[in-house]
Amino acid sequence: MNVEKIPATEGRFNLQNYDETYANFDWAEVEKQFTWYETGKVNMAYEAIDRHLLTDKKDKPALLYSDLTREETYTYAQLSELSNKFGNVLRKLGIQKGDRVFVFMPRTPELYVSVLGTIKVGAIVGPLFEAFMEAAVRDRLSDSEAVAIVTVPSLLSRIPVDELPALKHVILVGGADEQKEGVTSFEAAMAEASSELEIEWVDREDGMILHYTSGSTGKPKGVLHVHNVMIQHLQTGKWVLDFQDDDIYWCTADPGWVTGTAYGIFSPWLNGVTNVVRGGRFTPEDWYKTIEKYKVTVWYSAPTAFRMLMGAGDEVVKKFDLSSLRHVLSVGEPLNPEVVYWGLRVFNHRIHDNWWMTETGGQLISNFRSMPIKPGSMGKPIPGVHAAIIDNQGNELPANRMGNLAIRVGWPAMMRKIWNNPAKYEEYFHIPGWYVSGDSAYKDEEGYFWFQGRIDDVINTSGERVGPFEVESKLVEHPAVAEAGVIGKPDPLRGEIIKAFISLRSGYEPSEALMEDIRKFVKEGLAAHAAPREIEFRDKLPKTRSGKIMRRVLKAWELGLPTGDLSTMED
Ligand code: WTA
Repeated sequence: MNVEKIPATEGRFNLQNYDETYANFDWAEVEKQFTWYETGKVNMAYEAIDRHLLTDKKDKPALLYSDLTREETYTYAQLSELSNKFGNVLRKLGIQKGDRVFVFMPRTPELYVSVLGTIKVGAIVGPLFEAFMEAAVRDRLSDSEAVAIVTVPSLLSRIPVDELPALKHVILVGGADEQKEGVTSFEAAMAEASSELEIEWVDREDGMILHYTSGSTGKPKGVLHVHNVMIQHLQTGKWVLDFQDDDIYWCTADPGWVTGTAYGIFSPWLNGVTNVVRGGRFTPEDWYKTIEKYKVTVWYSAPTAFRMLMGAGDEVVKKFDLSSLRHVLSVGEPLNPEVVYWGLRVFNHRIHDNWWMTETGGQLISNFRSMPIKPGSMGKPIPGVHAAIIDNQGNELPANRMGNLAIRVGWPAMMRKIWNNPAKYEEYFHIPGWYVSGDSAYKDEEGYFWFQGRIDDVINTSGERVGPFEVESKLVEHPAVAEAGVIGKPDPLRGEIIKAFISLRSGYEPSEALMEDIRKFVKEGLAAHAAPREIEFRDKLPKTRSGKIMRRVLKAWELGLPTGDLSTMED
């Protein structure tokens, strides 16, 4: 492919010699930098926070937090102390190594303290989006048999405690007056807790974090990551994010999403940089003001956000001083070339796209500073990772041929299991020796990877993965809905939007009001981002003889494309 390249820029910590580093790199070199290399006994929270207390970073700001009502700074020493206290709070409640502790709350300092404290006692932390409604919360807590959840009063009603026999403790932030059995006040417990904690030293292969994510069939899957991810989080922080000691870094992702933990918590703190967290919802002005106010140097966001900012116009950008910025990155969905050119124009920076997944635990393919960018391409694999385009038999395809984007197994941050579901885990490895991503892509003759789409029906709306099955299941709970099929429909701002095809039960007639009611039903039962923006009523939905709704046919209808082979469709 002949595309214009945007020339490389100077990085500070960098892959100046990509080809040479790629050829010679060995992950053991990174492992050796950790004190635990010999013993294998480790704790991520110690490595990310406490270790810096032995250096001149002790009193360096680790977290710069702001939302509409709060503005706070926490040093590494303060985060260490607070997470120690929270570790003691959990211990006192009887939480032990391996127990699942969920965090379900807005992005506040307490959330970050809870994540770190949970990891310090060797428990497994499960972050949830604040937007989740009861059904989404129940599925995740019950699948993982969570024993405790940290939350806030406004979200309490979405936790169906009576249906969750394993759940013993609700730790409530900012709700000291809730006097109920099983409810602990975060503030009261923290006030009593000691700031000295015996960290739980665990094996590098012990569980650390459980992120639920959607597939095309079945309920969301719990992707388990172990402490070993730190090797990759440390190193990609250098290669991809180009971290240096004096960086002020802002990752805009919520910790409910893997980007908001791997690169919103672990990678920046392992690398000892200052991490900016902005809570609440914000306008384009707020985005730029955050960069100006904190003098953000490295900014990691997502295509939907960049498209939203682009839509707000160039004039807004000019009102702010963004001269502190030196490195801009994007992940989660395809980054349109148009957006890359816009970034170049208004920020005078290239936006560096990179690719990875919840399951891969860390970045795998990236545009590095030291490399020319081909707008529209995700870049090249990080050293130590072999990415390839393979056919369904596992043969690597030549350049420019589209196929399965796959990774040779064995990189540090790879997921270690799907909770309660070994069969699902195995599905990713059905071609021996490979992790099959479910994305289709091609690689050009210069080794750049180009995303083409999902092979399955998973929807990516504004960077969030939504499983059509989960939405369909909710839809059919609505009294008017007989059957539902859900697809992703291309959308210029959100990448894809959710569209539902619905057949109604007898006695119900299509109407605007019904559409609105159905939408609300999903919004309130599952999550706002899972509610179909478009609904189309049909008398009948295309189904296989075994009764499965054929989303492929729905998609073809939607796009006005041929429906392909219909031999399995019922009469
Ligand atoms: C998609 C995200 C195009 C892809 C960290 C992948 C991308 C899924 C890109 C994972 C990119 C991620 N270009 N598509 N740079 N990055 N994706 O698990 O389909 O929420 O499989 O994690 O997002 O989504 P997940």
